[in-house]
Amino acid sequence: MTKNNRLTSVLAAVCCLFSAAAMRPAAEIDSCVTELLGRMTIDEKIGQLNQLSGYGYAPEMVTQIKNGSVGSILNEVDPEVVNRLQYEAVENSRLGIPLIFARDVIHGFKTIFPIPLGQAASWNVDLVEEGARIAADEASSVGIRWTFSPMVDISRDARWGRIAESFGEDPVLSGALGVAMVKGYQGDDLSRPNTMAACAKHFAGYGAAEGGRDYNTTWIPEVQLRDTYLPPFKQAADAGAATFMCSFNDINGVPSSGNRYLLRDILRGEWGYDGLMVSDWGSIQQMIPHGYSTDLRQAALQGVNAGVDVDMESYAYIGHLRELIESGELSESDIDPLVANVLRLKYRLGLFDNPYVDMASASRFYAPASLDAARRAVEESAILLKNDGILPIDNDKVRKIAIVGPMADAQHDQAGTWVFDLEKERCVTPLAALKELYGGSDIRYAAGLEYTRDRKTNGFAEAVKAAAKSDVIIYFAGEEAVLSGEAHCRADLSLPGAQSALLRELKATGKPLVLVVQAGRPLAFADDVALADAVVFCFHGGTMTGPALANLLSGKVNFSGRCPVSFPRMSGQVPVYYAGKNTGRPASGITLIDDIPLEAGQTSTGCTSYYLDAGAGPLFPFGYGLSYTSFTYSEPELSASTLSADGSLTVKCTVTNTGSREGSEVAQLYVRDHVGSLVRPVRELKDFRKITLRPGESRQIEFTIIPSQLAFHVDGAKTVVEPGEFSVWVAPDAQSGTPVQFTFVESSEFASK
Ligand code: NOJ
Repeated sequence: MTKNNRLTSVLAAVCCLFSAAAMRPAAEIDSCVTELLGRMTIDEKIGQLNQLSGYGYAPEMVTQIKNGSVGSILNEVDPEVVNRLQYEAVENSRLGIPLIFARDVIHGFKTIFPIPLGQAASWNVDLVEEGARIAADEASSVGIRWTFSPMVDISRDARWGRIAESFGEDPVLSGALGVAMVKGYQGDDLSRPNTMAACAKHFAGYGAAEGGRDYNTTWIPEVQLRDTYLPPFKQAADAGAATFMCSFNDINGVPSSGNRYLLRDILRGEWGYDGLMVSDWGSIQQMIPHGYSTDLRQAALQGVNAGVDVDMESYAYIGHLRELIESGELSESDIDPLVANVLRLKYRLGLFDNPYVDMASASRFYAPASLDAARRAVEESAILLKNDGILPIDNDKVRKIAIVGPMADAQHDQAGTWVFDLEKERCVTPLAALKELYGGSDIRYAAGLEYTRDRKTNGFAEAVKAAAKSDVIIYFAGEEAVLSGEAHCRADLSLPGAQSALLRELKATGKPLVLVVQAGRPLAFADDVALADAVVFCFHGGTMTGPALANLLSGKVNFSGRCPVSFPRMSGQVPVYYAGKNTGRPASGITLIDDIPLEAGQTSTGCTSYYLDAGAGPLFPFGYGLSYTSFTYSEPELSASTLSADGSLTVKCTVTNTGSREGSEVAQLYVRDHVGSLVRPVRELKDFRKITLRPGESRQIEFTIIPSQLAFHVDGAKTVVEPGEFSVWVAPDAQSGTPVQFTFVESSEFASK
């Protein structure tokens, strides 16, 4: 038996002893933390605040662990190495404090689910929770007990590459799905070894990056911060998200890693949050290039003062906190609460009782039920944007299918961004799945382009030839994974490379043309949409993209995905989002650029709020998506025509499946406050429900509106509902539906939300 094997057996035996433990009661955890803190040296305390990236069982790392100078490690995913490093911490450091192993498990560990924006398109809270639970089970099986997810940054700018990691533009949808992920990762008892601590990130306002360029400055008025950007974080905190991560950006001039107002006053003070705040990678150090800190020493001081508990990879705390304490700029009691937050998390995770990966059940990946859930997640998140009747493709009538395009067989790229642990050979592509599904048909595959940015047209002829000989063309276009995600922003939101040119050539064959886009963001592709007979938009779907798309295209499964963001008509139109303000001159009588007569007068186009080339509004609105069946909505019925501060209002609406097959619909509750002391958005989502109806079936949906849901911030401290007229819609998207009115009768104040 080798030394490693002996260690592994000891560890397995130790695990068995403790695996039945449940989370210790909060009071016990607090007293354990206080007791342990009392025994720690300054250096041991600072060590707990230091997070490093793993690089195997390396001597230097082992020495640091034995010295107690590392509190947590990210990016170490070999369970044997995890156990060996943990052994050094538990058995060979003075106090035996276990390490936490962390990883960016963003949309699955091995079984990759759709990118978060895709999961948001499902509008299915339960499915999102299930995906997070599966991710936790897989990742924890190699020792990862802390994921840096969910990202609940509101994202209204498709240029920003990280829109892929978000739940889109709306605070209510993002909040609900963020909570679902927190629950999925953490379960009911975080000390169970198959859970992970969630991390609500990036606190805060990161999605408002100016120009959609990553890491860029943000300028967010207090009321907008509190009405739009903070609510999903508040919900995640209330749901028990064990950790938060602060953001890279500066917000109104103050980088988040040094932002005492956000991290202490709001998060700890107003919200009473007692979890852990980790910096983003190097973000304490990055306060130097921001121009907020003179050097790393000052950055460390600012980080502690702001309330950043853990320094991820800046080496600021480990390098400077002792010196700052010795100089009197900080006292030991300044860092004690930060250390306590780290220790508390370790107790909550059960790591003091059960620190090791149980090697007997390590590396649990790709369970059939997990693959099934991943497939359902794609099926529910793909959006049918257009269908002139060509879909579903009937296998009995359509015998010859041309499959074209760079995303038809792109195992790596269909997985999307943030998949460090991807095994791409496990990804089933649309080409593979369609071949299997349409086994009896004549399938001709010619990619036409090698990858999405490809500008070479030498493959066009073969693709066009395949298309010309077929009954239908399915063209798989989109973006490679690397075109979205962190630091991968685009100023041009069209289909990259020569994809649109190939689409035009395919169209010229005269054959029915289905365009399927897999991408990390909504694209501005109006001209492509116009050419296609049907358009499916699938945010990068992960492992099971192929089988899911095959089921949808063939009609075995119905579409039910809905846009979690508005789709711009043109790149220059962003940010475009539904909850905008009306302006004093709302768009009307739109005259587009090609229709303006020569030498038309200055005021001839009407002087209202729109673009001469893009018009007004999005290409596809928030909430939109088609189905193979159709739905009607009755006019909403309100329980009363007035609402007072202590009352509530019920909104009832009957949704009917008027088509001939079963389908799922997302009924969306919107409200408009017509007049306010601060101008209100033209619509705001307040609630939603995804329901499945058989053909001909009707179901009454009931929503309840309470006054605090209508409240908006007038300053940092309070929200108000002002008396006046409100409209209510229950609608299939943010641009349709029949409004009904009620009056809010008295002015009311609520605590800040
Ligand atoms: C930087 C990213 O902004 C953050 O989301 C991620 O969790 C960390 N790096 C750790 O990889």
